[in-house]
Amino acid sequence: MDEGLLRRNLELLHSIETRTGCHILLALKAFSMYSTFPLIARYLDGVTASGLLEARLGYEEMGKAVHVFSPAYSEDEFDEIIGYCGHIVFNSFDQWRRFAPKIQASGKQISCGIRINPGYSEIETDLYNPCFQNSRLGVTLERFEPEALDGIEGLHFHTMCEQNADTLERTLAVVEEKFGRWLGRMKWINFGGGHHITRPDYDVERLVRCIEHIQDTYDVEVYLEPGEAVALNTGFLVAKVLDVVENGMNIAILDTSAACHMPDVLEMPYRPQIIGAGIPREKAYTYRLGGPTCLAGDIIGDYSFDQPLFPGKRLVFCDMAIYTMVKNNTFNGMNLPSIVLHHEDGTDEVVKRFGYEDFKARL
Ligand SMILES: Cc1ncc(COP(=O)(O)O)c(C=O)c1O
Repeated sequence: MDEGLLRRNLELLHSIETRTGCHILLALKAFSMYSTFPLIARYLDGVTASGLLEARLGYEEMGKAVHVFSPAYSEDEFDEIIGYCGHIVFNSFDQWRRFAPKIQASGKQISCGIRINPGYSEIETDLYNPCFQNSRLGVTLERFEPEALDGIEGLHFHTMCEQNADTLERTLAVVEEKFGRWLGRMKWINFGGGHHITRPDYDVERLVRCIEHIQDTYDVEVYLEPGEAVALNTGFLVAKVLDVVENGMNIAILDTSAACHMPDVLEMPYRPQIIGAGIPREKAYTYRLGGPTCLAGDIIGDYSFDQPLFPGKRLVFCDMAIYTMVKNNTFNGMNLPSIVLHHEDGTDEVVKRFGYEDFKARL
C-alpha cells in the first residue's frame, strides 16, 4: 500500500468537499486497512459501514462520522450499531418501523434515511447491478410510503459501479423525477458509491455541477460514499513464480491465487495489470498465470512478457488495494500476503504478517 498515492487520491476527493461543501465517506467494504485511517481522516468526513463490524472498526479506528446501510438489520446487533453510528439507512419501511423505537429509546441523535431504488442503472453485469430485476436493494417508487416518512431525514441511492459523472447526471434526473417531490423534506441525500472520481478521465467538473444542482434545488446536504475511488491504484501485490508447466501453452504457477487473494478477478471478472506485461502475444513470451490452489479455474489470465518466466521471478500486480484485503480467504490453507505500508518518507512498514494462527482462528 503506497501512502503517497493514497494521499493523492484523498487530496482530489477533499478538493471536491471543499469546493461544494459535500461530505465524502470511505466505504469500508472496499478498503478497511485501518492503519491508513489516520491519514484518511485528515481528508474525508468519515466512513460508511455495511453492518456492525465495519461500523465498530470505523468508530474505533477513524473516530469521525460513521454511517451504516444494511439490506436488513438483526435485532441482536442493532443496539450496538446505534452506539457507533450517527446515520442509519434502512432498506425498507418495515425495517424502519421495527427499529425506530430502539433509536428513540437510545436517546442518541441518529439521522435516519431510506434507501431508494430509482430503477435506473447503467451497470451491465447483474451481479453488480442493484437495480436489476427483482432486486432486494432499495425501495422502489411503487413501494414508497410517503406517510411513513416522519423521522426520516435522508434518501440514499446506490446504483453505480466504476462510472463517470455523466452516469451520475442521468441517474440524478431519474431520482429527481421519481423521488424529487420528497427530497425537499429531507436534510440530506446520499449518492452512494461507484463514482470513479480518482480515475484520470473522470469528469470532476460535472460531478461538482451535479452536487451543486441538488444542493441548490432541494436545500439538502450531499453525501458520497465511494470505496474504490479512495484507494484506486494505490496498492500492489507482489507475487512469485513457483513453477512453469506446459499444456498446449506455457502456464506459470504463482504463489498468489485469484480465488484467495484477488477474488474479484473471478467474480467481476476483470484482468489486473502487471507491471511490464502485455496482452497475450504482444510480447515474445506468453503465459497463462494460475494460482497454487486445487481450483481448476484459479486462473488470473494470459499475459505476455519480454523475457521467459522462471521460478523465483517476481510479478507485480497493480490496483490491488481495493476489494482484496477485505475479500480474501484462506481456501486450501493458502496463506495471505503480508500487508506492507510504503510511507512517503520511503520507509516500509510491515503492518501485518499472516500465518497458521490466522488460518486456524477462523475455523
Ligand atoms: C451501498 C454502497 N455504498 C458504497 C459502495 C462502494 O462502492 P464503490 O467501491 O464502487 O465506490 C457500495 C459497493 O457495493 C455499496 O453497496
